Amino acid sequence: MKVVPVQPATPVVKDVQHYLRPGTLQLPALPPLSLYVHLPWCLKKCPYCDFNSHEIAPGEMPQQRYVDALVADLDAAVPLIWGRSIHSVFIGGGTPSLFSPQAIDQLLGAIRARLKLEPGCEVTLEANPGTFEKDRFRAFRAAGVTRLSVGVQSFNDAHLQALGRVHDRAQAIAAVEEAALAFDTFNLDLMYALPGQTLEQMEQDMVQALALMPPHISIYHLTIEPNTWFAKFPPRIPDDDSAYAMLDRITEMTAAAGMERYEVSAYAKPGHRCRHNLNYWQFGDYLGLGAGAHSKLSFPHRVVRQVRYRDPNLYMRHALAGQALAQDDEVARGDLPFEFMLNTLRLKDGFASAQFGERTGLSMSAIEPALQEAERKGLIERSLERIKPTQRGFDFLNDLQALFLGGP
Ligand SMILES: C[S@@+](CC[C@H](N)C(=O)[O-])C[C@H]1O[C@@H](n2cnc3c(N)ncnc32)[C@H](O)[C@@H]1O
Ligand code: SF4
Repeated sequence: MKVVPVQPATPVVKDVQHYLRPGTLQLPALPPLSLYVHLPWCLKKCPYCDFNSHEIAPGEMPQQRYVDALVADLDAAVPLIWGRSIHSVFIGGGTPSLFSPQAIDQLLGAIRARLKLEPGCEVTLEANPGTFEKDRFRAFRAAGVTRLSVGVQSFNDAHLQALGRVHDRAQAIAAVEEAALAFDTFNLDLMYALPGQTLEQMEQDMVQALALMPPHISIYHLTIEPNTWFAKFPPRIPDDDSAYAMLDRITEMTAAAGMERYEVSAYAKPGHRCRHNLNYWQFGDYLGLGAGAHSKLSFPHRVVRQVRYRDPNLYMRHALAGQALAQDDEVARGDLPFEFMLNTLRLKDGFASAQFGERTGLSMSAIEPALQEAERKGLIERSLERIKPTQRGFDFLNDLQALFLGGP
């Protein structure tokens, strides 16, 4: 079971000098930096979801106070990323599309006033078809959102109901059609191996999804997460063999539609890969603002992970006082190789060899024995410049990643 650490009543407050002091790592350069913003409310909690999301009536959402808290949180964090530009922004949740376009405009305006966004910076917002109204998506675009991620999950009404979704098939289609009109690029989020789902039903979901011509699809195997309604009252879900067969069909069908599986769960047409998620998978840096948001930040001699207060009310109180951090820990030198490989091996193209040293501050010798073992087992391929999972490595990703546990 996943252990959720109890967050302390006393916030973590450290001086910038603390992060810059000498240490054992030598990072030759800092990686690209992304910004994640967490908006923690939903109309209804889905029975499978373990995200930090809380049910709320739209009229009760403290929208302005939350935006003020995010801005105060950012103000307190700016010294840690001083001078660095922002590679991508992702507004996730929860259901960010519950926030009004005016609130998103205010938030993005405050971000732009404090941080330098790289030219053409991708700005994604997660949207739920249940919050879709005509003109709302265009208003998000006018506020500066460049990419929408629409949480569809399935186009089958019976499955949507079993998943406790607030929208039906018709609303999902209308939302995706509007996303296609309002944005140059967008993502469609789906899940497979749903309660009672057959291979044919999954194919029908994919046929419908592909008919909408999305430039990007993320499709996740439904997992029963601890501390969810489904963990307490488990539904009947397809067995592992059926789920593998579904994944094979998904990969075939997306390939036939000109989409490439560039990450374990992500498929894109050329030019439409998600830059924000790519930065996570390439072990880049990210500053996470908002309730329960996680950050990974590099400094010349250390890599730090931070977590903000998880409860939205507690978060707002602390963030408005400039002290949103509940946890702040240096990643142990011995954990860096595994953390790097956990992310980069999710990518079909793997990683450039030079990136290992750049992002971890360690020498390749730290992973050489594990690389040799992975190569011997046929799980990775390597050239002088690049290391990537083989098809077998991709299919047995957990086994491949586990070879790098244990550290140098
Ligand atoms: C934060 S949600 C997306 C936005 C919005 N909250 C929604 O659900 O429409 C991120 C995605 O994670 C996936 N997800 C959430 N819980 C999952 C689970 N237990 N198993 C597999 N995928 C899950 C869903 O595909 C979901 O769209
Ligand atoms: S709408 Fe999304 S974040 Fe909200 S409960 Fe459902 S899956 Fe979780």
